[in-house]
Amino acid sequence: MQYGHFDDDAREYVITRPDTPYPWINYLGCDDFYGIISNTSGGYCFYRDAKMLRLIRYRYNNVPADAGGRYFYLKDGDTVWTPTWKPMKSKLDRYECRHGMGYTKFSSAKNGLAYSQTSFIPLGDKCEIHKITLTNESKAEKNIDMFSFIEFCLWNAQDDMSNFQRNFSIGEVEVHGSCIYHKTEYRERRNHYAVWAVNTPVAGFDTDRQTFLGLYNGFDEPQAVLSGKAGNSIAAGWSPIGSHHIKAKLSAGESKSFVFVLGFCENPEDQKWEKPAAPGNAGIINKKPAKAMLEKYSTPEAADKALAALNDYWKNLLSKFTVDAEDKKMARMAGVWNQYQCMVTFLMSRSASYFESGIGRGMGFRDSNQDLLGFVHLVPERARARILDIAATQFPDGSAYHQYQPLTKRGNNEIGSGFNDDPLWLIFGVASYIKETGDYSILDEKVPFDNDDSIAETLFVHLQRSFNYTINNKGPHGLPLIGRADWNDCLNLNCFSSTPGESFQTTANFESGIAESVMIAAMFVFVGPDYAELCRRVKQNDEAARAEKAITEMVEAINKHAWDGEWFLRAYDAHGKKIGSKECEDGKIYIESNGFAVMAGIGLEDGRAAKAMDSVKEHLDTPYGIVILQPAYKDYHIELGEVTSYPPGYKENAGIFCHNNPWITIAETKLGRGNRAFETYTKICPPYREDDSDLRRMEPYVYAQMVAGKDAVRAGEAKNSWLTGTAAWTFVSISHYILGVRPSYDGLLVDPCIPSSMKGFKATRHFRGADYHITVDNSAGAEKGVKSVTVDGKPLDGNLLPVFGDGKAHDVVVTMG
Ligand code: BGC
Ligand code: NOJ
Repeated sequence: MQYGHFDDDAREYVITRPDTPYPWINYLGCDDFYGIISNTSGGYCFYRDAKMLRLIRYRYNNVPADAGGRYFYLKDGDTVWTPTWKPMKSKLDRYECRHGMGYTKFSSAKNGLAYSQTSFIPLGDKCEIHKITLTNESKAEKNIDMFSFIEFCLWNAQDDMSNFQRNFSIGEVEVHGSCIYHKTEYRERRNHYAVWAVNTPVAGFDTDRQTFLGLYNGFDEPQAVLSGKAGNSIAAGWSPIGSHHIKAKLSAGESKSFVFVLGFCENPEDQKWEKPAAPGNAGIINKKPAKAMLEKYSTPEAADKALAALNDYWKNLLSKFTVDAEDKKMARMAGVWNQYQCMVTFLMSRSASYFESGIGRGMGFRDSNQDLLGFVHLVPERARARILDIAATQFPDGSAYHQYQPLTKRGNNEIGSGFNDDPLWLIFGVASYIKETGDYSILDEKVPFDNDDSIAETLFVHLQRSFNYTINNKGPHGLPLIGRADWNDCLNLNCFSSTPGESFQTTANFESGIAESVMIAAMFVFVGPDYAELCRRVKQNDEAARAEKAITEMVEAINKHAWDGEWFLRAYDAHGKKIGSKECEDGKIYIESNGFAVMAGIGLEDGRAAKAMDSVKEHLDTPYGIVILQPAYKDYHIELGEVTSYPPGYKENAGIFCHNNPWITIAETKLGRGNRAFETYTKICPPYREDDSDLRRMEPYVYAQMVAGKDAVRAGEAKNSWLTGTAAWTFVSISHYILGVRPSYDGLLVDPCIPSSMKGFKATRHFRGADYHITVDNSAGAEKGVKSVTVDGKPLDGNLLPVFGDGKAHDVVVTMG
């Protein structure tokens, strides 16, 4: 069944009942302050780093689910409720949650009182705004007690959840009027604090959790609210919270609005105090930055204005690529939600979601390059900066730190290097950036290796080192060595771990110098031509020729050693045994090497590409998408690593790892099979499963990393929504390859490959300073092939739209057939 619906005009997903099969979340923030908010107002916010600077506490994997957030309690006489349903799970007369672009709105009603909450992070400020309006819909006057509630995190989220012997003694707050300041650790080594304020006088407040809730009560039973009286408590250690008690008198029909602000403030070291601490007196913090921030949002009108500015920001971003088609599910994903998710993966990487705890993972070298594909057309200047950050963590031999820290932008020593696909992703990312922007100057940027300026080289040299790394690290079959793993982090062929808890990703008990990856080989053939092309464009023709020769050799090695008869092999293990072959008992066929080989064009002429895709369909396809391998591994194989550690049907062991389904989609477009390409696209595309939400469970408006495969107990159940490379790759598959609007070095290519039943579509694309208004006519019922193109009414030779760069709109009509 469905738990809501899309409102396409408003670009919102409207959740119509609060008890969704899993918390359905949204993201707030576009610059450096971010929040996660669920459909019951759960979640948390942080400044820049979800581990180090978290403002409010959130309890992952708690019971009941989704514990912690910004809660508002209402009391009308003896009736007490939480208008966003949780935490009291109140029975509401109405409930609606609208997740929009960078904001979330709630509206509900109970007891004749309507409630609305609009939550967002304004552009350019480090705060969440929650504008709340109460409307008396009854015929009599109401005297409402409203209580706000947040629980402060003592900044470092990991320490906050573990170091209780210290943390229960360090909590400090200040309260001044309607402003609650959280200043734990401000006296010593921090120069920042949080403020939780409301723009109206309060009747009382609480900052001590036990006083507000009661020691043995949950969030659903706060004693201050139930008694209608705040304790005016000042936290000293234990668990500081922020709660305002507001009394609102509302005559019949009357509305009142309140603006709550939860902000992060910093002071320069020499201006930290209004009054420094003295014996017997706690210091008074300098509140200037807080006051300036609160002043900006002190009226509902000011909050509305900030929201309007945010809406304009998103409207402008999403005008860069729009889609109009009969198939609304595809159009809204390609035109709106998929791009929105791409921006979120850009901002969050893999740090904070309801599956990523915000304390674990840095920025992935591979992940960040892939994420770029999904947002480079939206914010090219930020893509440029991101590329330079990533490249600066590369080692001089072309290999790369697998991850880097977002705050320091330095490579992460704990994970280190040795994921041998990593270097190639940099070529891919840079080529995508240049195809989008035409900005070759990026290749001349001096970029350090391993963040060491003394060994900086141009970005072009970085690409050369990336390319050479693969050439210099080949195994016995002339295929690239896999190292610790390739794209499949769980194919750990040198790991040989039998120790519980040992990291599959960083352990190498058996440096074979033998295990090879066909996926990296195919990827080399896929991205290598871009390197060669860039060489030619910067007039390094000899280097281009050398690159082309290396690619040809790789194709030969693949043809000779990586074709299994009906599909491409996946790898050779540390003993030189085949992986992903009909000779194997389990794991006979894998998706990755097949997708990449066909995307690279290998076997297109001799029918092997079509055969490989047919095999993928025959062995890996399911109603919910294509599984990563078959048959699932039943047992742990020490020589294969983490892939075999998962129960059958989950994650890398035969789950539908959505990230790589678009590779098959793209591969199918290479074969011109528009019907099949679209089928693979729709199977993992969330709106197509909106009415199956009880099984799928995740948000119908975003992709999930994984859907349980056919061997799993709950086949079709999704997990790990939001922060996944699926976002960028599905966007590429639908926009570049199915709709076929694809940036290339010399212009915008239009090369659709769509289902024969699709009669056409319209798309607008901003590209290098001009707008292309494209109409595709497929009354011929073709799957691929462009018969004619006109631009501004004039026929064009071929299907490469020129770079106009004139700031104007151009009408393009494409006739398929
Ligand atoms: C997961 C992978 C992930 C890796 C690195 C593994 O446990 O299965 O999907 O990429 O961890 O974080
Ligand atoms: C998730 C990781 O973020 C990504 O880098 C990797 O390719 C996939 N898992 C597959 O293992």
